[in-house]
Amino acid sequence: MVIEAVTELSFDYATLDEGHLKFLKTAFKGASAVLVGEDGARTVKVEDLKPLDPIQEITAIPDSLKVAQVVPGLAATLEKRGLLAFKVLETAAAPATHTEAKAEAPPDALAPGTQAAKQRHEAKRVEIKRFLDTIEMANTNREQSSTIIEEMLDAGRAGRFSATPVESVVEDIIRQGSSPAMKAIAGLRGSDQTYAHCTDMAVILQGAYVDILQRSNKEISDANRRFALIAGFMHDIGKSEVPKDILESTQRFAPDSKEMIIMRNHTTYGARILSEMGMPDPTINVAHFHHVKKDDTLLNSYPAVSYGQVLPLTKLASIADVYQALIGRRKYKRNWVPGKAIEYLLSLQGSEFDEKVLGEFIKSMGRYPVGSLLRLSTGDLGFVLELGPDEFPDRPIVAVVENATGEVLGTTVLLDLMMEPDIGVEEVVDHYEHYNESEDQAYQIFQSIRVA
Ligand SMILES: [Fe+2]
Ligand SMILES: [Fe+2]
Repeated sequence: MVIEAVTELSFDYATLDEGHLKFLKTAFKGASAVLVGEDGARTVKVEDLKPLDPIQEITAIPDSLKVAQVVPGLAATLEKRGLLAFKVLETAAAPATHTEAKAEAPPDALAPGTQAAKQRHEAKRVEIKRFLDTIEMANTNREQSSTIIEEMLDAGRAGRFSATPVESVVEDIIRQGSSPAMKAIAGLRGSDQTYAHCTDMAVILQGAYVDILQRSNKEISDANRRFALIAGFMHDIGKSEVPKDILESTQRFAPDSKEMIIMRNHTTYGARILSEMGMPDPTINVAHFHHVKKDDTLLNSYPAVSYGQVLPLTKLASIADVYQALIGRRKYKRNWVPGKAIEYLLSLQGSEFDEKVLGEFIKSMGRYPVGSLLRLSTGDLGFVLELGPDEFPDRPIVAVVENATGEVLGTTVLLDLMMEPDIGVEEVVDHYEHYNESEDQAYQIFQSIRVA
């Protein structure tokens, strides 16, 4: 087997920080990289790559670098480095198959009720306390961000775009570590407007992006966090060129109506605005292509480009965008609780979204996202504070706030389903129905949770 080209790269290469750049320049010296820009694809030498270059493929690999033999575990090793798919030439010398040793599970492998589960619980308890401490700040950050986005779009309407206020609120969010709590609040409170949508979508996108990098054992820098947050905050900036009466209308427009055509143009407007602002290509790609579906013949896929022009970060952004619309939009219909929105996204895989990216997104959000209200098999009711481990997504850590008889508990009981093998999740409860929605009661209760 000879590797001719790398045809798919993971999210790591969306940011191309110094570490990735160094790896590519060393491992693929002499090869070419195909970059997807606004004017289509262009090819540069790997040695000339710069941070934030949107790499689509690595081609023209010099003969001296082509891997000409099958090494056990090669594909897994390359995948771990973020090189996901290849164009290969089969050679006669290559054996038909090879076997790889399967790692045996260690004796103390994570399973409900084991010592390993107990150790995990102690570590998570510390994280949960830290998370709860950030809720109030996160709520303030969320409101500030929405105001800043509203002001940015208003200034844009007057022809003055500036990224500075957004960059400064992004720095606050990163410094205070409030993004995970902002994400939970997004699911608890919903939102009415374009501005809160951009804020919530940005923290959801950033959470999933950073999680995907972490799962492939990559070191996460503030540059990664900043990059994803800004891409999210800016993804609908083109809506500044959509008249406010269309943007804020509660009416549902027909797909071929004049209003809908104007609305859809927010993607091309956004790409133009961001390139005039000097934003990096991946940020522009997100604004331009976050409504392009995997099946680009679908009526709700726009603008008319092929899916090949959509970067991995944009594919993730398009999922975060739809997910936020489901949990946030009160304008046309009831908003969905996060657990139900996850179920709905699963039904769209294959037609609208890339299955692999959707799988990563769902793994990151969790089967029951943080902030979900669950009925347990004991009849108790509790909010999810921490996801279950990957192998046991149905076993989150829950703060019980109400017992089976409907009595509201004065003190929160923290229940880790990895420590309670006999207790399971009965159902996802709609917190908007269970609590008083107009008083924002679900959020009020959530933010008053304290853990000893
Ligand atoms: Fe959009
Ligand atoms: Fe959006």
